[in-house]
Amino acid sequence: MRGKCGNSKFTIVKFIMAVTSTDFRFSLNGRTMQVRDVPAQFTLLDYARSRGFTGAKEGCAEGECGACAMLLVCDDPVSRTTYQAVNSCLVPLPSVADREVFTVESLAENGVLSEVQTAMSAAGGSQCGYCTPGFVVSMFAEQYRSGPATRDVHSLGGNLCRCTGYRPIHDAFLSLGPAPAGRFKERLSRPVPALAPLRYASMEGRFSRPVSLDEALQLAADGNSRFVAGNTDLGVVTNLRGERFHHLISLEAVPELREFNDGPEAVEIGAALTLTEISELWRDAPSVFREWLPLFASVLIRNRATLGGNLATASPIGDSAPLLLALNAEVQIASFAGERCLPLAEFFTGYRMTALRPGEVLRSIRIPKPFPESARFFKVAKRSMDDISTVAAAIAVLCDSHVRMGLGGVAATPVVFEAPDRNALQELLRTTLKPMSDHRGSAAYRLALAQNLLARFES
Ligand SMILES: Cc1cc2nc3c(=O)[nH]c(=O)nc-3n(C[C@H](O)[C@H](O)[C@H](O)COP(=O)(O)OP(=O)(O)OC[C@H]3O[C@@H](n4cnc5c(N)ncnc54)[C@H](O)[C@@H]3O)c2cc1C
Ligand code: FES
Ligand code: FES
Repeated sequence: MRGKCGNSKFTIVKFIMAVTSTDFRFSLNGRTMQVRDVPAQFTLLDYARSRGFTGAKEGCAEGECGACAMLLVCDDPVSRTTYQAVNSCLVPLPSVADREVFTVESLAENGVLSEVQTAMSAAGGSQCGYCTPGFVVSMFAEQYRSGPATRDVHSLGGNLCRCTGYRPIHDAFLSLGPAPAGRFKERLSRPVPALAPLRYASMEGRFSRPVSLDEALQLAADGNSRFVAGNTDLGVVTNLRGERFHHLISLEAVPELREFNDGPEAVEIGAALTLTEISELWRDAPSVFREWLPLFASVLIRNRATLGGNLATASPIGDSAPLLLALNAEVQIASFAGERCLPLAEFFTGYRMTALRPGEVLRSIRIPKPFPESARFFKVAKRSMDDISTVAAAIAVLCDSHVRMGLGGVAATPVVFEAPDRNALQELLRTTLKPMSDHRGSAAYRLALAQNLLARFES
């Protein structure tokens, strides 16, 4: 990856087009499934349930409840095999082509429950049972996660229970020991094969998974397609509003969009890296990043959601824009014409609109060094975890005592303010910020929040 954001010419190289097919395979609970003529936006949840694996439930179909959680066998960025719990209601089935998926049904063997299931049962962690398979799957992924075996109950933040109460569920979780020996532990000792290119065509839409940037751009050239990364935003639109896309181009296997480079002048983060991957790769990230990350959705969402997807949605209440604006980030955009670099502040052009032109892809996000002397992130939402912001603010003090503040939830786009000192910034907010009113908060409330967050940073 380039150490500097510049207008490098993009070299078009030849690539081998994968053959379009009407079927693909993946492994479900250890059995190979041959999928044929399923709509391109059919979800993993619907498919598994249609095959009799009905443990995972549809509670919300929008990533909020975790009742649909399943396990994907993944490579974590340091090339260790891992189990990732994901919301299967937001996973388009073709995106698991050639991958391994496990549902809650696979965890018990020959009638003997897994340790997680036994712990849930012993702690009385289930009443109606609707949420239970999802909790079990999230706990299982945590138990098999590499690294210190500390159990953080926030890792279950994407799973909701409406009747048992969280205490016994947390007790079950905290009682878990290290991952036991057996077939699931053994699977972690073997690598995950690289994702192969895919061209899937069904009666209802196409789904392509290119394995190079050239290929992705070539596929997008017809102007009749939509990029998809983690599908945590697009999937909600699909599920709840019934929107269908003619052709989805997955960015999941495009290596150029998955690079991470911590150089002397900047950190450059590939747009298709998930938030979970970024936190693995950026071990010495500034403390404001560690403050920001747990406030972004849940582990289940962060395992799929990408930084590029968050910026490309141009949501005025997206959480990464305020942070990245305060850190003075730039975005690198790629197309067949070449590459261009934009300050993030110029990327958002209107309500849910960006400077991306047809056929362009967000390639990476570049955060220049040195990082600010101090920076904080604040998120005001109805719930403290796993909720969208009413107002989000990131505030950075620069070496010459200038203050920069990135704000979400106060205008049609994320915005940034800079002033020579904090008093000047307060005055700038007071005189120029004109937030909108909606069901989450009035304009006056949002202005007061922005000012109070700045004051909180001062104290
Ligand atoms: C339950 C839940 C909780 C959430 N909580 C939060 C939260 O706390 N904070 C927050 O900010 N967001 C939140 N979100 C929104 C969402 O998860 C994020 O916006 C996420 O980062 C989107 O990334 P993605 O990879 O899933 O994008 P996708 O859904 O795959 O794509 C979103 C859009 O971006 C486009 N796109 C994706 N990648 C690129 C690229 N590289 N170049 C060009 N276009 C691209 C797609 O075409 C699509 O239009 C939440 C969503 C859910 C369902
Ligand atoms: S059904 Fe609620 S998160 Fe998937
Ligand atoms: S046990 Fe009923 S919703 Fe959790």
